[in-house]
Amino acid sequence: MTEQTADHRTPRATAPSGRIALITGANRGLGRRSAQHLAAAGTDLILTYRSHAEEAEEVLAHARELGRTAVAFRLDTTEPSAFPAFAEDVRSALREHWGREDFDFLLNNAGSAAMAPVAETTEEQVDLMYQVHFKGPYFLTQKLLPLIKDGGRILNFSTGLTRFTAENAAPYASMKGAVEVLTRYLAKELGPRGIAVNAIAPGATATDFGGGALRDDEQVRAHLGAVTAMGHVGDPEDIGSAVAALLADGTGWITGQRIEASGGMLL
Ligand SMILES: NC(=O)c1ccc[n+]([C@@H]2O[C@H](COP(=O)([O-])OP(=O)(O)OC[C@H]3O[C@@H](n4cnc5c(N)ncnc54)[C@H](OP(=O)(O)O)[C@@H]3O)[C@@H](O)[C@H]2O)c1
Repeated sequence: MTEQTADHRTPRATAPSGRIALITGANRGLGRRSAQHLAAAGTDLILTYRSHAEEAEEVLAHARELGRTAVAFRLDTTEPSAFPAFAEDVRSALREHWGREDFDFLLNNAGSAAMAPVAETTEEQVDLMYQVHFKGPYFLTQKLLPLIKDGGRILNFSTGLTRFTAENAAPYASMKGAVEVLTRYLAKELGPRGIAVNAIAPGATATDFGGGALRDDEQVRAHLGAVTAMGHVGDPEDIGSAVAALLADGTGWITGQRIEASGGMLL
């Protein structure tokens, strides 16, 4: 797979934290890097992948090398009809591997891009963005709520594009805006259970996302780097480490927030 696995900065293991994180779309990109950072911070993993089981296996192997317990399930987050069975699979895995009835952190990360000007956007594009970025996380969270530990955390993946605009991003960014509103409502609803709910909003980050231009197209990278305070496009490492920091002990009082990790894009 990509250089992300062999990255010399792959985080090193620390003592087990006793925490379990469920991450959607963790076989590659930001979900994968977040999984690696959380594993290094001592967190056990329940991962999902949609179509690349072999990549998920690599993430599991890395976590197990760090001494973590880690399992993976196939899940398409655009298929809510599959969520009840998935929740049952997670419940069984919790009992079998951890002797627990709950997990600590839910990361709604899985997603894809559909880019078009509003004038040319198709219903299919909007439907897909709605399903993968809003309806999926909404009902997956709903089905998993009984399995999230009181005092746990939910982290939804949004985007810098809800604060600033970019060409053709309306179908995608509009749904991420909805996720940010949902984040606040969840924070309010789950506060009595001590569950903190936040949205991380990455700026342009070099992954496969949107066809990989943010990683592979030097012109695009230079253009975006020029409008970013840090002077360059983000790396999955930047987001994985931010995710682990946001889920560290001592940050549970932060809830209902949109936290941008963009290197200061378009300030
Ligand atoms: N990269 C950026 O610049 C950027 C910026 C802001 C926000 N984000 C957000 O960060 C999240 C991760 O993006 P990324 O950059 O890591 O993208 P990526 O490298 O393309 O990875 C996307 C991940 O989501 C999974 N996925 C896509 N559609 C799915 C579906 N219908 N059901 C289940 N899993 C699905 C993919 O699984 P498969 O491998 O099976 O396809 C993959 O694991 C997304 O929510 C994205 O909107 C990214």
